[in-house]
Amino acid sequence: MPGQTPPEAMSETEAQAELAELAKAIAAADAAYYQEDAPHLSDAEYDALRLRNAELEAAFPNLKRTDSPSEQVGAAPSGTFAKARHAEPMLSLDNAFSDEDVADFLGRVRRFLGLEEGTPVPTTAEPKIDGLSLSLTYEDGKLVRAATRGNGQEGEDVTANARTIDDIPVELSGSGWPARIDIRGEVFMSKAEFAALNAREAEAGNKLYANPRNAAAGSLRQKDSEITRSRALNFFAYAWAAASEPFSETQFEAVADFTGWGFVINPGFTRHETLEGLLSAYREIETARATLDYDIDGVVYKVDRLDWQARLGMQSRFPRWAIAHKFPADRASTRLEKIDIQVGRTGTLTPVARLTPVTVGGVVVSNATLHNEDEIARLDVREGDRVEIQRAGDVIPQVLGVIDPDREGRPPPFEFPKTCPVCDSDAVREVDDKGEADVRRRCTGGLICAAQRLERLKHFVSRKGLDIEGLGAKQIELFLSLGVISGPQDIFRLKDAIDAAGQPPLEEWEGFGETSAANLFASIDARREVPFGRFLNALGIRHVGEVSSRAYARNFIDWAPFWESVQRAADEGEEGEAWQALTGIDGLGAAAAGALTDFVREAHNRDMLAALLAEVTVLPEEAAASDSPVSGKTVVFTGTLEQMTRDEAKARASALGAKVSGSVSSKTDILVAGPGAGSKLKKAQELGIQTLSEAEWLALIGDPQT
Ligand code: IVH
Repeated sequence: MPGQTPPEAMSETEAQAELAELAKAIAAADAAYYQEDAPHLSDAEYDALRLRNAELEAAFPNLKRTDSPSEQVGAAPSGTFAKARHAEPMLSLDNAFSDEDVADFLGRVRRFLGLEEGTPVPTTAEPKIDGLSLSLTYEDGKLVRAATRGNGQEGEDVTANARTIDDIPVELSGSGWPARIDIRGEVFMSKAEFAALNAREAEAGNKLYANPRNAAAGSLRQKDSEITRSRALNFFAYAWAAASEPFSETQFEAVADFTGWGFVINPGFTRHETLEGLLSAYREIETARATLDYDIDGVVYKVDRLDWQARLGMQSRFPRWAIAHKFPADRASTRLEKIDIQVGRTGTLTPVARLTPVTVGGVVVSNATLHNEDEIARLDVREGDRVEIQRAGDVIPQVLGVIDPDREGRPPPFEFPKTCPVCDSDAVREVDDKGEADVRRRCTGGLICAAQRLERLKHFVSRKGLDIEGLGAKQIELFLSLGVISGPQDIFRLKDAIDAAGQPPLEEWEGFGETSAANLFASIDARREVPFGRFLNALGIRHVGEVSSRAYARNFIDWAPFWESVQRAADEGEEGEAWQALTGIDGLGAAAAGALTDFVREAHNRDMLAALLAEVTVLPEEAAASDSPVSGKTVVFTGTLEQMTRDEAKARASALGAKVSGSVSSKTDILVAGPGAGSKLKKAQELGIQTLSEAEWLALIGDPQT
């Protein structure tokens, strides 16, 4: 880290003092995060503290404290609640920040559905509550489970606490509810209750909650349900999932039904036919905002017709049929104390503004992103400047500009480092085919860079990577700092690696013990077989994230032919067939293929992969929906489609597990040809590939509308 003295230039006294400070800062951050639901550091800042701690401990092993943060392993997040898997994922919402963004949203919906411009798209509008979402499972009208959102797939089971909330019926009233349904909505705390709670906490000498949202989260996650009961939480129901039978045709009527079942819905819930209608609802809610007794941070729009919602489906984490129109961000001014440079998993150097803490929109902000070198130059921000910052929702605060550029004694412009602050390798800006330099400067150190190594290993074991339970950032840091592991392959020979590093067996380490050591080895062993897509994503290759990994996996199914293609593409270049195979997959660009071939050209990557594959078996990717007749089939669409747009057709085919490709080859299974089909149809006929009309295709996939 810049501004930090390299350990070799430090005296023991200095190191000891800094280690003491780090222990205190990390313990405070842990407590804020785990016990108070009120994190005051970003993940990156927290990681930087731990990295620095590990670095100093490695340089001064004799100064390692008895309460060293690196020994506090496995301080699991509260650990109080059982995990709860959602029947259907709990999605996030895409954001709109302007009227144009809302118009674009309606335009996208129309295009996707193939509706003519100007066709009315009835849409609901309602306040976006700044609380935390909760999913309530009802079976035969009885509340059987309440689960927090968690990572969207899996949350925490907080049923006992949810039962204490008055707005949550333990039994549904009225009639017409499905035998099984998840009711989703927002738990929140009123501003009045928040003020009263903080007054009580202050009197008792406890720490205060930063805002009503954190107070609601903290109150819902109490070990003792009686404490939750005493907190007066509220719940607005606004969505549902996994209903055993349909009960409505529109969003508006469905939510209206909720009232009859005993739920509270937001009084500001309305339905509109036009863009103007939605925008006037937005203005009304924005005006009412100040008078509401709870925090809202925008307006949510949802396409009203449920059959359209079903067709629109979802795109990665967002439904295509809803969007959040956010209120303008809160702003404040403060002093920029220092510019730090962080190094990410793929080597990107990101400048971070360290700020004199200031409250923006109810949250204390002490860091803001400066994005990249060009942004610093554009703003001409320098250390010591007074700056205006803005915070919008969950987005990282941003620096908008300098308030006092003419002040006396201002230092010269900030000089962005040309070498990596962690490993000192050159940091370069890549130039693309068009001769344009990338805005990001990247460390070229690859795996010799401690920061990149750490971030890649953290990614490798993370939820989206191999998802190794009990092996998180803290453990990785610890193993790395002790020289036990240096690459992902070492995780699978951890016992030997610990031994080879001259360390005692894991069960003797502080914070482990016999059970947790055995559990860790077992959860590592449980990942010796991993599906292709997950494995590829875990490798953390640039441009090859979750979505492209899955696309490759679905197309190649088996790892071996895929990796052969990558190797061949690296040898043959962009002219060869292997390159075509990597880039011919719909939705995958040359960037991913280029990153893969770059990766395989490096000997140390090939060695790592070989060592890893000696430990791990990559399983063939399962097709997404194996009961569909098109699952696993390679499909090409050509010509004009009449029942739906090309995008919708492709999205639905992928959702059924088909591989959608842009060109016809001997690997194509089905060509769907509409009127006007030309060369692709001809080629398919020559190759003897099954050719379907749009209607035949819809009949094949069992489209409900045909
Ligand atoms: S609908 C698929 N409606 O906002 C639709 N969400 O940024 C899922 N939220 O995770 C959400 N008020 O926690 C919806 N009226 C509202 C909401 C709302 C607040 C939250 C919810 C969601 C987050 C997405």
